[in-house]
Amino acid sequence: MADEPLILGIETSCDETGVGIVRGHTLLADALASSVDQHARFGGVVPEVASRAHLEAIVPTMQRALTEAGVTIADIDAIAVTAGPGLAGALLVGVAAAKGYAVAAEKPIYGVNHLAAHVAVDTLEHGPLPEPSVALLVSGGHSSLLLIDDLARGVTPLGATIDDAAGEAFDKIARLLGLPFPGGPYIDREARVGDPAAIAFPRGLTAAKDLARHRYDFSFSGLKTAVARWVEARQRAGEPVPVADVAASFQEAVCDVLVGKALDACRSNGVETLVIGGGVAANSRLRAMAEQRAARHGVRVRVPRPGLCTDNGAMVAALGSHLVASGVAPSRLDLPADSAMPLTTVSV
Ligand code: KG4
Ligand code: ZN
Repeated sequence: MADEPLILGIETSCDETGVGIVRGHTLLADALASSVDQHARFGGVVPEVASRAHLEAIVPTMQRALTEAGVTIADIDAIAVTAGPGLAGALLVGVAAAKGYAVAAEKPIYGVNHLAAHVAVDTLEHGPLPEPSVALLVSGGHSSLLLIDDLARGVTPLGATIDDAAGEAFDKIARLLGLPFPGGPYIDREARVGDPAAIAFPRGLTAAKDLARHRYDFSFSGLKTAVARWVEARQRAGEPVPVADVAASFQEAVCDVLVGKALDACRSNGVETLVIGGGVAANSRLRAMAEQRAARHGVRVRVPRPGLCTDNGAMVAALGSHLVASGVAPSRLDLPADSAMPLTTVSV
């Protein structure tokens, strides 16, 4: 609706420079520039390279977003920017740019949490999020289960990974299998022609003895080691590695644990809505498995389209829009970037 506030969001926490513009829950622009190709040969994001790429991309990406939405900076009602968590130098570029635009155009600024933005982005596709909801947040840097009582003011962590993030596990296994970086999408593709039951890989922290202390926590390092041992044994025996079967069996183990624990969290908290966010939420098997199993438990699954699951500016604008609509006060102009911002801090 034309009378809803127009919010611009800036994302620079990792290797994607994103600028999104939303009006209420309506997405008007989602401009993205990625430095992923510059990191690929290192097998991981190089912070210094990412920061420089943001510096070069930020203004052109801003201009593309404004053009795409058919608005000027003067039309914007508030600017939201990822203030953390993420790579320190990368965050600084976005926060500094947001401050510059906010001061020049005399707009309020909201420094927001990247992880809460991964949850909020779903509102652009499925409307307001029922509260309470359970959120499964699975990205390259984080894997958490959260209870969302009030997305504008605070979320309650239920559990998190005790070692690797889910996306990190995908990236490491992809590397082991000789697939490009970032590996998630390549594992996803290989797995489509593989047999998910070919190899029985372990499901971390699902044994009865672990559930007492780690009911909602995740662990992927044992799985990673098991896959590496299996592949090495094949290689030692001089046998070919069935990449598609390994990818499918690994992916099945990750998704099985993520979905199982997320639905357990819904059930035990009497929650009927599960929202999945973060780059790994783009995974086709995770999406299908969550839908199937949730239906049996009377839980509704909400997952944004894959393009909105990975990092982008629209998610930051979506959270900014929710904060404005909820009457949350803007941040101060001296707001810091916090590379270790806790999950419980939605805005600073
Ligand atoms: O949320 P995101 O874009 O950046 C972070 O905040 O970390 O997540 C990136 C992660 C990477 O580890 C990438 O491999 C993974 O998301 N990813 C996927 C898929 N698409 C991206 N993992 C599994 N399947 C996918 N289709
Ligand atoms: Zn992310």
